[in-house]
Amino acid sequence: MGGSKTSPKAVILVGGEGTRLYPLTYGIPKPMVPVLNRPFLEHTIAYLRKYGVENIILASSYLPEVIQDYFGDGSKLGARLTYTVENNPLGTAGAVKNAEQYLDSTFVVLNGDIFTDLNIGAMLAFHQRKGAKATIALIQVDNPSAFGLVETDSDRRVTGFVEKPSPDQVTTNWINAGIYILEPEVLGYVPVNSHYMFEKGLFPLLLKQDEPVYGYPFSSYWLDMGTPEKYLCLNHDLLLLKVKSALINDLSRDKVCCDKEAAIHSSAEITGPAVIGSKCQIEQGAHIKGPVVIGADCHVGERANIEETVLWRGVNIGAGASLKHCIIGSNTSIEDNDQIVNRVVTPDSRPR
Ligand code: GDD
Ligand code: MG
Repeated sequence: MGGSKTSPKAVILVGGEGTRLYPLTYGIPKPMVPVLNRPFLEHTIAYLRKYGVENIILASSYLPEVIQDYFGDGSKLGARLTYTVENNPLGTAGAVKNAEQYLDSTFVVLNGDIFTDLNIGAMLAFHQRKGAKATIALIQVDNPSAFGLVETDSDRRVTGFVEKPSPDQVTTNWINAGIYILEPEVLGYVPVNSHYMFEKGLFPLLLKQDEPVYGYPFSSYWLDMGTPEKYLCLNHDLLLLKVKSALINDLSRDKVCCDKEAAIHSSAEITGPAVIGSKCQIEQGAHIKGPVVIGADCHVGERANIEETVLWRGVNIGAGASLKHCIIGSNTSIEDNDQIVNRVVTPDSRPR
């Protein structure tokens, strides 16, 4: 595919409030949460660019201005961005219907919280070979209960969906990966200006209408970062090079990537992999053990210990404090000598 004229457009679903990431996502849309100190969505756009997708529609319903202010027309990323905004959330399929005027040929849809290195060109070739109206990328997970289960026949034609299956409904561990290739005509089945979902509405309806819907199984990296545990896991996986971001190419295992403007005391001990943002100050005797991300403008006090943790920007870690396996939201202060393990901490959620 790589930049050819036939590259499809893509719609990224960037609405939804990211409730499972609360309180981190108060006042910030889920796709804008920082991953290696860059908004998650920037990694997604770079991924699409890698597969030659240039025209990207961002379908938003929650704090769209935060996204627009950061990305503008997308030219800095080599993309052409179009924004659609729902006054009230229209659901996953309703959001794409709302962008219908821009969709005149085969297009890609991506959930805005998916990190993957699925080969879009290969999935598109599969879609065309099968003559599908809709192709759903399928990934295997240990426990499908938090996802949409998808049943297929031996020809990979989809035969059934169960969204968020209860234990007795689990017939397969192949799930909807939140990546679709669609023909524009399927949007004819989606009501205008109404809340409507792919998962419970359009896909089951297409099956009922006997439309050709196929599942495209893949096994490359895939993760839905929409919970604190998965969000932390993604940061670690990137730092440990279990997967590569199309946006960032200077990571290497055990390396400390430190912004030039960071001030690190000579007695501080830092073991990679770690990314340290601009204007950070790391004091005497501090101990940092990767995988760790430290956002811009953070202050790490004397003798503080930080391990397997992600700090967003403007965080202050008190002297002698110790953090392990934590996510610390922007502008949070951690008191001197606090010991915190496995926690999300924000300015509004004080550790006990
Ligand atoms: N524009 C817009 N409007 N976007 C929305 C809306 C809406 O009303 N509702 C949800 N979204 C976006 C979310 O921001 C997210 O990027 C994506 O749609 C999916 O929503 P989630 O809330 O993250 O859904 P999920 O993770 O529980 O389930 C979905 O993803 C799974 C894979 O991660 C489903 O598609 C499952 O079937 C699938 O397995
Ligand atoms: Mg999700």
